[in-house]
Amino acid sequence: MTAIQAYPRRYCAACGSVVRREFRPGPGGRPNAACPRCVSLERHRFLAVLLDVLRPMLGDIDLVLDVAPSPQVTPLLAGLGARRTVRLDLGADNRLVDVLGSLTELPLADGSVDLLTCYHVLEHVPDDRAAMREITRVLSPGGLGILQVPFRPGTVTDEDPSVTDPAERIRRFGQDDHVRYYGDDFEDRLVEAGLGLRRVTPRSLLGGEMSAWLRLSPDETVWIVRRDPDATVPDRDEPLPTPLTGAMDALLEELATQHRRLVKARAQVEQLRARVAELERGGVVGAARRTARRATGRAVRAARRLGGRDGAGRGVAG
Ligand SMILES: C[S@@+](CC[C@H](N)C(=O)[O-])C[C@H]1O[C@@H](n2cnc3c(N)ncnc32)[C@H](O)[C@@H]1O
Ligand SMILES: [Zn+2]
Repeated sequence: MTAIQAYPRRYCAACGSVVRREFRPGPGGRPNAACPRCVSLERHRFLAVLLDVLRPMLGDIDLVLDVAPSPQVTPLLAGLGARRTVRLDLGADNRLVDVLGSLTELPLADGSVDLLTCYHVLEHVPDDRAAMREITRVLSPGGLGILQVPFRPGTVTDEDPSVTDPAERIRRFGQDDHVRYYGDDFEDRLVEAGLGLRRVTPRSLLGGEMSAWLRLSPDETVWIVRRDPDATVPDRDEPLPTPLTGAMDALLEELATQHRRLVKARAQVEQLRARVAELERGGVVGAARRTARRATGRAVRAARRLGGRDGAGRGVAG
């Protein structure tokens, strides 16, 4: 639990709003997942942040390829101002898809795609190495891909094409239409396909407190890839916190501290109000006030008898 989590508001980076209502549970009942305004999930909100960060590097965008589009991602990509956006999926969904096709055989020219998003697709694709080679082929020289897959760091990819039983696939791969669960060699496969990669998590980019304020999954990795035939798998050690994440952590911790103090002060005021009401009901406050008034009157009269001045020589008001 981070400091900012008790703060009664949160910010949705996907719809750009401060949200007062609680975020709703997501798939599988995980808490704080879905924005009550735009229904974005953690990964969509982090994509919104990433697109903001990466936008200056993309320059003039001709073609965006959105593999397996979703209603939450379409508006985010539309905001990039690309000349063309192609939404592609193997399956038909007339609301979302422009092209029916496979990631393993993209109907696009070499080097034509400036930005490619591919979230939660590769674990469905039997020949994922062919899909990765296609990503390399279609990316333009300065083009970027943003990829996400279910991933267990520190493990080797669990895959077995002979597993077709839905229950067994759920047990091993997490879903009945998944054909593997990726481990560290996911990155080796990307590099073998000619892609250079950078890992990024909400925590590494934004810090823990900002990830919490944005209701992101702090340690969920996203891979930013680009064509690079000489790439190697980068080291896992990323220095944390950075000056920027440190600053954001400090700022939000301060906000959370001030909020805690405010909540405590409000509770004390309520307690005092209740105590005063209780005393008033018992007539105690009225009696105390009358006693105080009588005491003040006596003091004022005594002061007047002493020559109309109090001990300090000031005039005495009645
Ligand atoms: C779990 S959904 C992901 C949807 C969305 N990207 C998201 O993150 O919520 C997986 C999608 O991958 C698509 N898919 C599976 N194999 C594919 C392939 N070879 N080429 C393109 N799309 C594929 C499926 O049709 C399905 O729409
Ligand atoms: Zn939202």
